[in-house]
Amino acid sequence: MFPVAFCISFCNFANDKNNKNMESSKKNNNPTTPIIIAIDGFSSCGKSTMAKDLAREIGYVYVDTGAMYRTVTLYALRHKLFNADGSVKADELQKAMPGIHVSLKFNEKTGRPDAYLNGENVEGEIRGMEVSSHVSPIAAIPFVREAMVAQQQEMGRKKGIVMDGRDIGTTVFPQAELKIFVTASPQVRAQRRYDELKGKGQDADFNEILKNVKERDYIDSHREVSPLRKADDAIELDNSHMTIAEQKAWLMEQFRKAATK
Ligand code: DC
Repeated sequence: MFPVAFCISFCNFANDKNNKNMESSKKNNNPTTPIIIAIDGFSSCGKSTMAKDLAREIGYVYVDTGAMYRTVTLYALRHKLFNADGSVKADELQKAMPGIHVSLKFNEKTGRPDAYLNGENVEGEIRGMEVSSHVSPIAAIPFVREAMVAQQQEMGRKKGIVMDGRDIGTTVFPQAELKIFVTASPQVRAQRRYDELKGKGQDADFNEILKNVKERDYIDSHREVSPLRKADDAIELDNSHMTIAEQKAWLMEQFRKAATK
């Protein structure tokens, strides 16, 4: 069972955005029937930027599922729900779940949703190193995943959605009409993350980031519940040496093919 509070927040967001996006879909002259686009892949390979840009271009809802796991992680950090060895006090977290209200609200300025924890905008905080280095064990907990997946499926009920994560094409929407699996070398991804943090004026250490990227790859692809893996019918995209423009053109082509099938 997942906490009702979680569901209400996300469902409201999804319905709101779905209605808005159906309107914007018409404005964009996108005449195709709405589909579900699942974008999975390793951390820091540009999935979110790519998914957000695609959603904007075609007038779809964009959902960053990593933000959901990050928000739960922030709650756990603030409430000291990690043991000294980095493991999670799962029983305590499970008890706390009904009091954890997570929502996503569209930010007009950035053109993407911000994450909220119990009504507080935590978008900045969930992107820092502390959350990044604690999120994998949280995302590996079955009751956390169950709650997230249920909400994500509700968000995609009306289709017209671009969702990025690790298990979207395999678990959340195995029936998605378009599945993309993104990869890039750990060095390239660490460099991108480093540049992003520096760009925001945050402290960053390249070697620490590279270590974190590799650790997360390992945990994400070896956990028991919904490990990161390419769905059999997903199209692989290695964007290590691609420009944003090349990637965008490639993605639009895949969208056209899938939406007009
Ligand atoms: O995409 P990201 O780096 O913001 O994701 C944060 C963490 O959440 C990452 O360790 C993988 C996990 N995650 C997941 O397990 N399933 C998802 N659908 C999305 C993210």
